[in-house]
Amino acid sequence: MAKKTTRTGKSALPVIVGVIVAAVLTIALLVWLGQRGGDANRASTGESLIGGSFTLVNQDGKPFTDKDLRGKYALIYFGYTHCPDVCPTSLQAMSDALDKLGPLADRIRPVMISVDPERDTPEQMKDYLSNFREGFIGLTGTPEQVRQAAQAFRVFYRKVLEDKGEAEKAASGDYLMDHSSIIYLMDPEGRYVDHYPSSIDPDRLAEGIRKAIAEHEKKNTSS
Ligand code: NI
Repeated sequence: MAKKTTRTGKSALPVIVGVIVAAVLTIALLVWLGQRGGDANRASTGESLIGGSFTLVNQDGKPFTDKDLRGKYALIYFGYTHCPDVCPTSLQAMSDALDKLGPLADRIRPVMISVDPERDTPEQMKDYLSNFREGFIGLTGTPEQVRQAAQAFRVFYRKVLEDKGEAEKAASGDYLMDHSSIIYLMDPEGRYVDHYPSSIDPDRLAEGIRKAIAEHEKKNTSS
């Protein structure tokens, strides 16, 4: 699934810079989320820092909004199907973690939201997600719809074009995306519960989800 072939023989510098930019922005978001940790738990009082309404299209080409995620927990990751390394690793970790959660996994929907709407058509999303756990929801949309969804989750992304022949590259579809790489856990009402770095291993992700859901439900029944 990694499509590295088109890059063979070219300078790796822009890619490295892109990866560093994305990493720095992801870390900044993680620090911010960490500082807001106490606040984030106030989700149950109605304060929403992460998440919100969006209108996208699923991998079957049907309209899909945040309301369609209600009723179950959601594990949400923003990425793109042409990503050479980070996205496939993250999606695999999500798949493996859900496999490890047993019956609890039935209450969690794994979701991938594309940050590359130009190339990620519903068909492309469907094809790509067949590599991962069954039940994955793949969402894409118009550039504006994707922008709104990413904004709701405070996700940064941008197209990386090498300095030479940018227009050409864009036209040929040969480009990478910088993007924040965080896995979000949202509750059945669409409220933020927890987040995980995308580099997390499946065991720790499964444990984190189990614990977060247990604490979330304890808090909601005791209040
Ligand atoms: Ni990626």
